[in-house]
Amino acid sequence: MNGATTKTGTSYQSGLGNYFSTEALPGALPKGQNSPQKAPYGLYAEGVSGSAFTVPRTESRQTWCYRIRPTAKAPPYTSLENPNWLTPASGDANASPNQMRWDPLPLPDAPTDLIAGMQSYAICGDAHHQTGIGIHLYAANQSMTDRFFHNGDGEMLFVPQQGRLTLHTELGILDAAPGEIAVVPRGIKFRAELPEGPSRGYVCENYGLPLRLPELGPIGTNGLASPRDFLTPHAAFEDRTGTFELVFKFDGGFWTTEVDRSPLDVVAWHGTHVPYKYDLANFMAIGTVSVDHPDPSIFTVLTSPSPDPGTANVDFVIFPPRWMVAEHTFRPPWFHRNVMNEFMGLVEGVYDAKADGFAPGGASLHNCMVGHGPDAATFEAASNATLAPEKIDGTLAFMLETRYVLRPTPFARDTPLLQADYQDCWADLKDSFDPTRR
Ligand SMILES: [Fe+2]
Repeated sequence: MNGATTKTGTSYQSGLGNYFSTEALPGALPKGQNSPQKAPYGLYAEGVSGSAFTVPRTESRQTWCYRIRPTAKAPPYTSLENPNWLTPASGDANASPNQMRWDPLPLPDAPTDLIAGMQSYAICGDAHHQTGIGIHLYAANQSMTDRFFHNGDGEMLFVPQQGRLTLHTELGILDAAPGEIAVVPRGIKFRAELPEGPSRGYVCENYGLPLRLPELGPIGTNGLASPRDFLTPHAAFEDRTGTFELVFKFDGGFWTTEVDRSPLDVVAWHGTHVPYKYDLANFMAIGTVSVDHPDPSIFTVLTSPSPDPGTANVDFVIFPPRWMVAEHTFRPPWFHRNVMNEFMGLVEGVYDAKADGFAPGGASLHNCMVGHGPDAATFEAASNATLAPEKIDGTLAFMLETRYVLRPTPFARDTPLLQADYQDCWADLKDSFDPTRR
């Protein structure tokens, strides 16, 4: 690592959508006007807008940073090869009407950091026009110490599956373990450390409106994810000089430049365009206490709305440990087809719709109007189970559900991780129809 580090430790302030203020040195954050004539400690004031200036107040995301050096002072970027991380504008991805499922992504042998270890699986929409998402899996074994990254195309939702991820961002330090999620907003610089060594997980790169909590409707004020459980870091900075690489993902392409000061030099900041983390164990899962199923949208943690009400650019939905108590009801997810497009991952345990084949670190894709549901073994067992209160435990699956068809990337279509026999999991479903037997 180049130079001396003078960060404060990891510490958080709670809330989601709050207006935060924080400083790593006393008095570094000016009171009153956003940009005083001279900022304290010889810092520069720099605004970061995560939304257009003229959006309604409820959509406004902006943060004022007080930093050692403004972002403008950096040499020009040159193009960087990063062929595995694709965006809709650059990928030759094509959709398939078939159900798809993948084995877990292996950890790399060669030194690989988070950015180089990002492998795109499915993409939709268009980053250039700020719609849709990219879904990537990362597998990395090297911390970023002198390499930094910022993403001009969208915010990044991290779902660690193996190993903790420590995200050193311009606005403070986020530490996310499996079972937690972390979100770095669009354009915020960061580097990722792997304090537990080789690490793996999932990323949703969201080109659309920023993620936020879903409306609660008749559920009322207490349910699903609570704003107070979302944690935003306090200011922390690096006063490091040396030779550093700064990578910029911009309109689907990758660019690199060399800087002689760590870009994580924000000493104080205030605003709403902020990174945050959330422990999924805090999610209040709600389900039926009588009969039948609510839709899986009842498990939505965060949503990115599209212009059409209720039709998400992407929903982040989890299937956490929970009690099942419904009577007279087939309990696993039913067979269905859907206008939405569903990409699933598994952090740990067993997903209740599949007896086997869907491993932690694996993934599946069921696009719009593609039939899917429990495999034959699960259907048989659940159809004949004695119904009593039952705890689904030791499991954490999630779904990224989007209105746009998810196009698997060339890697996702061609990799031997793709299970050629996935459809066989439904082959043993019997034709039991008998018009004489009610
Ligand atoms: Fe589904």
